[in-house]
Amino acid sequence: MFYKAVYASLLLLVCTVSYASSIIVADAMVDVETGKLVSKPIITIDGGRITSVESGDVNELSGDFIDLRGMTILPGMIDMHAHLTSSSQEHGYKRLASSQVRSALRGVKHAKATLMAGVTTVRNLGAGGFIDVALRDSINAGDILGPRMFVSGPSLGITGGHCDNNLLPVDYQASSDGVADGPWEVAKKVRRNIKYGADLIKICATGGVLSKGTKVGVQQYSLAEMQMAVTEAHRRGITVAAHAHGTEGIYAAIAAGVDSVEHASFIDDAGIKLAKKKGTYLSMDIYVTEYILGQGAAAGILEESLAKERKTGSLQRENFTKAVKAGVKMVMGTDAGVYPHGDNLKQLSRMVQFGMTPMQALQAASINAATLLNKENDIGSIKVGAYADIVAVKGTPLDDISVMENIAFVMKGGTVVKPYSKVK
Ligand code: ARG
Repeated sequence: MFYKAVYASLLLLVCTVSYASSIIVADAMVDVETGKLVSKPIITIDGGRITSVESGDVNELSGDFIDLRGMTILPGMIDMHAHLTSSSQEHGYKRLASSQVRSALRGVKHAKATLMAGVTTVRNLGAGGFIDVALRDSINAGDILGPRMFVSGPSLGITGGHCDNNLLPVDYQASSDGVADGPWEVAKKVRRNIKYGADLIKICATGGVLSKGTKVGVQQYSLAEMQMAVTEAHRRGITVAAHAHGTEGIYAAIAAGVDSVEHASFIDDAGIKLAKKKGTYLSMDIYVTEYILGQGAAAGILEESLAKERKTGSLQRENFTKAVKAGVKMVMGTDAGVYPHGDNLKQLSRMVQFGMTPMQALQAASINAATLLNKENDIGSIKVGAYADIVAVKGTPLDDISVMENIAFVMKGGTVVKPYSKVK
C-alpha cells in the first residue's frame, strides 16, 4: 500500500516535470514581431509558457531537447474566421439534417483537425445554441484536443438576413438564435450572448453568398443598429466582428466602430481609407471561393449562392490587393467550415499571390490576429511570457509560403500535440 502510494507520487512528479519544462532547438525561427528570420533558435518552456528565446549552437546544450533541426519554427497560427461546428460537406438544405448536438459533436473532430494543421487559436464566428461556448470550454478543460477558441455565440442579424435561416417556408416558423431587429433588440442579444459565454460579438451587416434569398452586396443592419451593437459590446470590454460584403454596409460598419470587417469583398477606396483612419482590421477570406466554385455544388450549396460567388470571389481578391497596398491592418480569416477544417492555411499562399509578402501573410495569421484579440502578450509570437504555441515546417516559409500547408510539429501551451517524426 505504502509503496504503491510512493510510486504513484513519484510517477506524478516525473510526469509533471517532463511536461512542465522543455527546450526546442531548430534551424530558424520566424520572428513575427521584428519581421526577421532568426537562425538557430533555442526556446525554453516552463509551465506552458516561453521562458527564454536565445540562439546558438546545440552542442552547448546538455540534457534532452526537442530536436527540430532542419526545420523552421513559427508561432502557432491564428484563424480569425472559422466555424468549427460547421461541416464543409453539409450546405444548403443538407444542413437542416443536423441537430445542434450533432454539430457540436462534429466540432470535436474539426477542432482536432484544425489544431493538427498548425492553427492553435481560432476566432469562431457564429454558432447556434452556444455550442461554440461548450466546445471552447471542453478544450480549455482538457477533455478534448483543439485550438484555443474565442467565440461569438449566435451571430446577430436582421429577420430574413444573412444570419437568419431562410430555407423554410413560414409554416415552420424557423428563425435563427441571433435574429435581432432594432437597436434595443440588438442590445438585448448582445447582453444575452455575453451572459451565455461569448468572448466577442458577430453581426451581419450585409447579405451573403451562402444565405438563401439575400443580396450579397446589400446593407442589412442600419447604422443605428450597428452602433448599438458596438456601444454595448465595447462597454462590456469585448469586440465586434461584422460580416460585410457590400460597399455601403462596410462603410456603415466601420463608421459604427466595429473592430473587424469580415469578407470586405466590395470595399472601395473610401472604405479602405476609412478603415485605415479608424484602425479597423480586414479579415478577407480569399481562399474559400476555390472550394465553393469547385466542390460546393456537391456539398449542397444552392445554385443562387454559386451565382453570387461567381460575382464575388474575383472582386474580393482585387480589393484585397488594394487594401494591402494601402496598408490597412489585416488578419487571416478563412471561413473554414465552409471548406474542410485543417485546410485553413491554404489561404496563406493566396494572400501572397494577391499582394502580401510571406512575412506579412504570417503576421496577419499571428501577431496581428493576437492584437485584434487583445491577447498579444499570450499568443501570436514566440517571445518570453507567451504561451508556448509553436509550430514547425520543413524549409522556410519566407521563400515558399506553401510549406505552411504541411505543418510537421505542433505544440500548444507547452504540450506537444503533434510530434515530429522523421520517417514520413
Ligand atoms: N460565409 C460567407 C458568405 O456566405 C462566405 C463568402 C465566401 N465567398 C468569398 N468570396 N469570400 O457570405
